[in-house]
Amino acid sequence: MMNNLSIIVIIVSAHLLTLTTVQAQSASAFQPGKEWPDNHGIHINAHGGGVLWHNGNYYWFGEHKVAGEKGNRAYVGVHCYTSKDLHHWVDSGIVLAVDGAQNSPIAPGAIIERPKVIYNKKNKQFIMWFHLELKDQGYKAALCGVATSKKITGPYVFHHAERPDKGTLPISYKPDTNKGDSILLRDKEKGQMSRDMNLFVDEDNSAYLIYTSEENRTVHISQLSDDYLSTRGRFARVFPDRFMEAAAIFKANGKYFFVASGCTGWAPNAARSAVATHIFGPWQELGNPCEGPDSALTFHGQSTFVLPVMGTKNTFIFMADKWNPKNAIDGRYLWLPVVFKANKFKVMWSESWELEDQAKQKSINNE
Ligand code: DGJ
Repeated sequence: MMNNLSIIVIIVSAHLLTLTTVQAQSASAFQPGKEWPDNHGIHINAHGGGVLWHNGNYYWFGEHKVAGEKGNRAYVGVHCYTSKDLHHWVDSGIVLAVDGAQNSPIAPGAIIERPKVIYNKKNKQFIMWFHLELKDQGYKAALCGVATSKKITGPYVFHHAERPDKGTLPISYKPDTNKGDSILLRDKEKGQMSRDMNLFVDEDNSAYLIYTSEENRTVHISQLSDDYLSTRGRFARVFPDRFMEAAAIFKANGKYFFVASGCTGWAPNAARSAVATHIFGPWQELGNPCEGPDSALTFHGQSTFVLPVMGTKNTFIFMADKWNPKNAIDGRYLWLPVVFKANKFKVMWSESWELEDQAKQKSINNE
């Protein structure tokens, strides 16, 4: 016969066991849309970001937002966090700071969006590219900013700003009799407009800038120079008149995969996806890759990067931002598993998931 004390002990132990299990789960589970504290317990501030793996660590670079509606302008700079396991992130500080000097293109109040960092093996330099808009000029300038550092965690030094692909026309260019190329031709001499952007480094170390151009109508994919510091005028014009932004490219089983959003400002819309056997195309559109509740709104987010998980074959994480334009600093992160199905990829909604679950999923699909 159990006495009352034994019953209480059993109930309390069971309760503690449940609590421990919940804590253990949350320690390694991605919880899309929830606050994501860094090592100081502060919500990570790296929006529109991307992740670079280097010498055993992951580095997450993103926009440091400030509170309130002005928070989407750059008053601080680009923030970096470091992690070994993709869950626990240590604050590595501001690696590119805004510059108060007169006429600096990265003056406080400029727009610095979607920073991405890649490593140039030849020069042993880290190169950061970002979407740059000059202070008080809205989104008119449509520039790329470039900054460099010998150390991954900075400080990065501003190198220059450019409109890409100045003076050249895209590969396989044929004049458009319907004048769908009028903005491309208008901007040929001063360089193409570049708003949302991303970088991709291929297996042969050739690097590419992917940018939304031509007043947001068309995406360009442009090869970078060998030092990764500029474009070289070799670019493809892809998805003409499809109004895509937030583009990201990743490669699996020798194929290039593309994800992007439509153009609706800070409001979410349905994601797009595509596949190609060559990075310059032809690209075949594959539709909205998202599956689950509110998949037609990319789960209320917008893509920013697709992260290859190191030490695995074809494990990728779809990274998106859930913007909060009224209080930019409180933007949330949606990191979700990428699953390959019948020559397409899918982004599956999950409130809480672990990398191990994704590995199981992959083996089910025999990918
Ligand atoms: C959507 C873009 O993807 C963001 O990076 C930002 O430029 C907003 N538009 C501004 O409206």
